[in-house]
Amino acid sequence: MEEPKVNPELAEQLKKLQEKYAVMGQDLSSYLDGLLYSDYLTYWDYIHLDTLLSLQNPKTSFPDEHIFIIYHQITELYFRLIILELEQITAKENIDEKFFIERLDRVNRYFAHLENSFDIMVKGMERDQFLKFRMSLLPASGFQSAQYRIIEFYATDFINLVAEKDRAAVQNGNNIDEVLLNLYWRSGATELATGKKTLTLQQFEKKYLDQFRELGISLATKNLNQLYKKYFSGNQNIIEHLREFDTLANVLWPLAHMKSAAHYLEKDPEDIKATGGTNWQKYLPPRFQKIIFFPELWSGQEKAEWGKAAFIRK
Ligand code: HEM
Repeated sequence: MEEPKVNPELAEQLKKLQEKYAVMGQDLSSYLDGLLYSDYLTYWDYIHLDTLLSLQNPKTSFPDEHIFIIYHQITELYFRLIILELEQITAKENIDEKFFIERLDRVNRYFAHLENSFDIMVKGMERDQFLKFRMSLLPASGFQSAQYRIIEFYATDFINLVAEKDRAAVQNGNNIDEVLLNLYWRSGATELATGKKTLTLQQFEKKYLDQFRELGISLATKNLNQLYKKYFSGNQNIIEHLREFDTLANVLWPLAHMKSAAHYLEKDPEDIKATGGTNWQKYLPPRFQKIIFFPELWSGQEKAEWGKAAFIRK
């Protein structure tokens, strides 16, 4: 019987493969055996579909709790996508305008999706079901989303994450531990009457605070605000993209999110308490926190109107 001919293209590929494995002291033939016996890749294995769909474990039997869990998971995946981009921007040597803008565009696109989809939380669940199943979730809160904080650390200096009203009390803005103590979400989740940290905050800090401190130190000279000042100061194109990011992350998403708190927690004779224990009407509105990643890119008037109706574009 005639031997099958190896076409030149295939022979060339085999040669390259042989070289690749030889460099590592590996035998190509064994790897080809592996290829022969391995199964074909499937879509469901590749994206771990069965695992993904097994990750929702409601605490109650109210069907809408599924929506609540899945939407949080979707948001965390978007946060992950945003962080992947921010990691690449801050790790890049010799950063240029094109790369910076392309990656910021990706971040802004993800945030816009999150803002636009938040109605799933506001209109997409039965209020009665929500108010019941949330009682089984105490004291957990989206407040404990570490990725949300990590995005903030990648975006700006620690001092810009102190609520505006507390900033004057910080003696040394370069002392990471002093600033860390005053981050807006740490003071926001403190019970006013007693000055004690909420349990939600205590648990969050126990798990993540050391990690946050390390990240803050490592990003001190290369967060986006620093990169802007170092490489792109005054560049209008970059300024537009950074302002868009600030608007989405610090006004539009927070307002979309706040609408859900208002929808579920505000209507009863006595306002319903937040699961994380904050005074959410004071804590959530961006016009009170005034967290701004890139304060130098906004005029005094824009900062004064931060989060107010005049600020919001249609
Ligand atoms: C019905 C839907 C929701 C309601 C009623 C709600 C309510 C609240 C409230 C009251 C707070 C203040 C902290 C507290 O006391 O618990 C909060 C914080 C927070 N929630 Fe939600 N939330 C909802 C959905 C979500 C979703 C889907 C996410 C996505 C991960 C999320 C992420 C956050 C974050 C990141 C914070 C902290 C915000 C900050 O520190 O400025 N929430 N939420």
